[in-house]
Amino acid sequence: MCYAIPGKLVEIKDRIGVVEYFGERRKVLIDFVDVAVGDYVYAQGGVLINKISQEEAQEILATWQDIFFELKKTDMRLAEVNKTTPSKNLLKILQKINLNQTLKREELFTLLELKGRSDLKLLFDTANNIRQKEHSNACCVHGIIEFSNFCRNNCFYCGIRTQRNIKRYRMSVEEIVGFARYAVQKLGFKALVLQSGEDYWYNENKLVTIIKEIKKLGILIFVSIGSRSKETYKKIFEAGAKAALLRFETSNKKIFKKLRPNTSLEERLDLIKYLKDIGYLIATGFLIGLPGETYDDIINNILLTKALESDMYSFGPFIPTQGTPLQNHRLIDKELVLKMIAVTRLVDKGAKILVTTALETLDKNAKKEGLLSGANSLMINVTPSQYRRLYRIYDHRAGVREEIEENIKETVRLLYSLGRAPTDLGI
Ligand code: 5AD
Repeated sequence: MCYAIPGKLVEIKDRIGVVEYFGERRKVLIDFVDVAVGDYVYAQGGVLINKISQEEAQEILATWQDIFFELKKTDMRLAEVNKTTPSKNLLKILQKINLNQTLKREELFTLLELKGRSDLKLLFDTANNIRQKEHSNACCVHGIIEFSNFCRNNCFYCGIRTQRNIKRYRMSVEEIVGFARYAVQKLGFKALVLQSGEDYWYNENKLVTIIKEIKKLGILIFVSIGSRSKETYKKIFEAGAKAALLRFETSNKKIFKKLRPNTSLEERLDLIKYLKDIGYLIATGFLIGLPGETYDDIINNILLTKALESDMYSFGPFIPTQGTPLQNHRLIDKELVLKMIAVTRLVDKGAKILVTTALETLDKNAKKEGLLSGANSLMINVTPSQYRRLYRIYDHRAGVREEIEENIKETVRLLYSLGRAPTDLGI
């Protein structure tokens, strides 16, 4: 399967390496793989994760050789900004962006409030253009395994909250490791996200065992297991999980307190900062459209994600879900999420920005539109289907009914049609 391309390590200085993909160079962190200049390697999320033999690499690269340059051309073409006449407000902002000036809060506000079709198109195209200049056609594709839907929390927005009456499941340690092996060896993933509710049945020992076993597969492991003690996170980092996905959910203290009983924003942020400090790659972000949120909050959400030096932005629409206290809340427009992706790209040009499943759930074009509005990362759900149905974090999740292979094929087809290649995005 083709969602990671090996590159050649052409330079090493301190712990930073330079990997070349058909002449294109990207910096990566050399953390734990024993490598030398000249080796063929895989990198994910800016971390060098594995080394492969020259023969194997050249065989894979031969299959990419022609298509790689074709993809680049397609991406360049789609990332062109067509000349249109923007409104006065937008024109001023675009001029600032061209001059590399930092946008003011009011300007971000203006962007989020844009309405006219042609202004919106110009905003999305500009963001896509910046994405292309910063990262070329590289796109991260990670697999996600949802291994338990037990959760001790009772978040008002969440479909797996303790008090919701749903069928619960837990994958055993052996099942998780076995399935990760399948995802890596048979499906070809080079990075996996292991996600669950806050489920303390998986104690530190179990988590360490899982990570150590999966680590042997030579991939980047993201953990997405909610709030656990700093000690536990440290132990699983040492066991080999080098990335963590942990959203702060909302930057508004009051909304946080109300919607996440018995937890606090301070604690959450403290944990995210700790994870960053001890060396985790961090993916963090928020929900868009929680009750009581204003554009001010939304802007704060973007700025907070940036201030946390997030290695990847992960945000998506809040989807009101039956059987939760917020079931009757209004669903936001897809357009607002696309604007958020675009604005994030303008605020943090070099960012890695995910298109989340929640956005895909809004309609079937959303994934494509997200990628054309500044996003450059995707996750493919590789949870075994009998469990995927039960991971009911919100209603009508995209990709729940399809077979894994079908989801993968569909995503690869989409990426090709947009001219994106699964080279690493680097650091
Ligand atoms: N709609 C969209 N996203 C949700 N999440 C939880 N509930 C919902 C919902 N109703 C998100 C949270 C969490 C992530 C795993 O899923 O942001 O961090």
